[in-house]
Amino acid sequence: MFTKEDNQVLDRILQARWTCRSFSDEIPEKEEVEAVIEAGRIAPFASISSKDVTPFRHFFVLFKGDPRLQVIDRLIREQSAVDLEIVKAEAEVDSFLKEHLAGLEGLWSNVAQNGAAVFPDPPCMIVAAEWRGARRAERQSLAHMMENMWLKATALNLDFGLLSVIESMVDNQEFCDLFGLPVERYGFLACVLGHRKGEVRTAHPASAEIHWPEDC
Ligand SMILES: Cc1cc2nc3c(=O)[nH]c(=O)nc-3n(C[C@H](O)[C@H](O)[C@H](O)COP(=O)(O)O)c2cc1C
Repeated sequence: MFTKEDNQVLDRILQARWTCRSFSDEIPEKEEVEAVIEAGRIAPFASISSKDVTPFRHFFVLFKGDPRLQVIDRLIREQSAVDLEIVKAEAEVDSFLKEHLAGLEGLWSNVAQNGAAVFPDPPCMIVAAEWRGARRAERQSLAHMMENMWLKATALNLDFGLLSVIESMVDNQEFCDLFGLPVERYGFLACVLGHRKGEVRTAHPASAEIHWPEDC
């Protein structure tokens, strides 16, 4: 059973979670990275496809200076340009998308030209890979993994940033080769772990509304 204090600690961690986009050069300790990955390892998974391969979940740790980070930096730029062309083509037949494309276009074309904000040399990047199986629920599983890792990082006073462009690497041969995984069989998501660089932690609460039943 959890105590009232345990519950309050959980609330504090949930409230403190935030997105960091500017990291110092300080590299997190191996034990800290291990603890964050353990939180991801125990995250829920879509069990129907989990018995196809062992292991079906992988974590690749890349510390600052790893030559693979240079390759990933380039692949992210290239992928952002490709993703932008795809969404532009979709906008031709989707009037909402056409009307609201400007923000996305600005962001993705900036990444295509200059790279993701946390590159060229993030202190520690963790690439998570999840077997897709026939169920194809890997993206949800990866989101669960990342949320567990994000909360654990927060509890360890580490800062965390998500790199969602890595999701698009599922069919990128060069990216899959970096990790020795077959193309199209694994979904990917990645995060950067480290310590904020002079950035003030700011809350960005989601706008949301609760719709209770009328008799409640
Ligand atoms: C599905 C998803 C994808 C995201 N992708 C990125 C990303 O690629 N880069 C980034 O800097 N933040 C990314 N974020 C972080 C959000 O921008 C951030 O969570 C949101 O602005 C709320 O801010 P907070 O995390 O500080 O509370 C992503 C968040 C989600 C849920």
